[in-house]
Amino acid sequence: MFISELKSSVDKEVVIKGWVYNYRSSGKIAFLQLRDGSGFTQVIAVKGSLSEEAWNTVQEITQESSVTIVGTVSKHPKKEDVFEIQLKEITLLSKASEYPIGNKEHGPDFLMQQRHLWIRSQKQWAILRIRDAVQTAIHNFLHQDKFIRVDSPIFTPNACEGTTDLFEVPYFDLGSAFLSQSGQLYSEAVISSVGRCYDFGPVFRAEKSTTKRHLTEFWMMDAEAAFMEHDENVKIQERIIKYIVEHCINTCKQELEILERDVAPLQAIVDNDFTRYTYDQAIVKLNELGSDIKYGEDLGNDDEGLLTKDSLVPVFIEKWPKEIKPFYTKVDPENPHLVLNDDLIATEGAGEIIGGSQREEDLELLKKLIKEEGLSEEDFGWYLDVRRFGSVPHSGFGIGLERMVRWISGVEHIRECTAFPRLVNRVKP
Ligand code: 4AD
Ligand code: MG
Repeated sequence: MFISELKSSVDKEVVIKGWVYNYRSSGKIAFLQLRDGSGFTQVIAVKGSLSEEAWNTVQEITQESSVTIVGTVSKHPKKEDVFEIQLKEITLLSKASEYPIGNKEHGPDFLMQQRHLWIRSQKQWAILRIRDAVQTAIHNFLHQDKFIRVDSPIFTPNACEGTTDLFEVPYFDLGSAFLSQSGQLYSEAVISSVGRCYDFGPVFRAEKSTTKRHLTEFWMMDAEAAFMEHDENVKIQERIIKYIVEHCINTCKQELEILERDVAPLQAIVDNDFTRYTYDQAIVKLNELGSDIKYGEDLGNDDEGLLTKDSLVPVFIEKWPKEIKPFYTKVDPENPHLVLNDDLIATEGAGEIIGGSQREEDLELLKKLIKEEGLSEEDFGWYLDVRRFGSVPHSGFGIGLERMVRWISGVEHIRECTAFPRLVNRVKP
């Protein structure tokens, strides 16, 4: 029996295996807060109605001890949809040593060192489950839209998103390989086989950013579709974000409650059309709002916050200057200085969650762009083959999973959005 299913067993006897995360005793009655991974419940132990052995076991319990309990389920006397268990029998599976995380406030450094234990706390439990829900929603949506999952490699010979933040690793007699920054280039090859595909896995950026939204290892979902052009690319991004957010509202009620996440702003994302600005419009708007950003510059964290400050919905910024976007982005046929790309900036200061674009499908133009970028045509021979053999217009986008989880959970720092975060200054535990 799982705690999440207690509702169906009121007045019945159940067996539950779990951990005691809190304990309070007053001589004749003890309250054990029990969690089993599926949820949380209170177990009430009354001395007079237990065997001496069981009561002695109850007295021995320490925080985080693992137990098997047998008891009768009852409704909470006051709270709707809350259930408790009246204890009958208990077995102590393993008595926990003194637990380092208590009810008092701990600093983030301490908690990060104890991350392997910290993930047991309610808030972290809720975030891990929201992460799972986001992934499930992405899979469901993409399969409904005829995408299939084809994963891309992590050891790669070339850079996808610029050469400045690559992790290089020794690779036998071949010299070095690089850890993937995005599977996109591979997905572009795969669509000529399966039409629409996505990958979902860890990617790496050797960026020395210590902001609240940068990890050195994070998970990215790259979706790619043959015969899809810029406008449709933007529309599918809006649909998938709405789908993910709605899925989380519907399936993570308890988790959002634990995180004290206001659901109204999430619902507004589902209910309203997203805003679309061109890069030009975004710069004008930002200058009006007091930013000193100049045309041709990338948006900083503050600019993203400013642009979405009063917005109920995420904002697309499309058609950026060619120079500040990767070589593969397709040049806008209406303006050779711009490319057919988009960044999606989330609400509530969450920043960029998606980067997407139509890809250049013209062989000669792409060769030129690779050269201008200082990349070797030989290294990208396989990528150019996609254009040599039946090139088609195609587009795609990448969602940063932890950015998405951070936004939906409403947590301050991205380090809480993955079980074991990798940051510039942390690879342990
Ligand atoms: O905007 P980016 O760099 O786009 C790409 O890599 C494309 N190749 C994707 C594609 O078209 N298939 O990264 C995509 C997303 C960002 O919008 C952001 O959400 C996330 O990945 N991201 C990070 N998340 C956490 N830590 C970092 N250091 C991140 N860098 C990017
Ligand atoms: Mg980006």
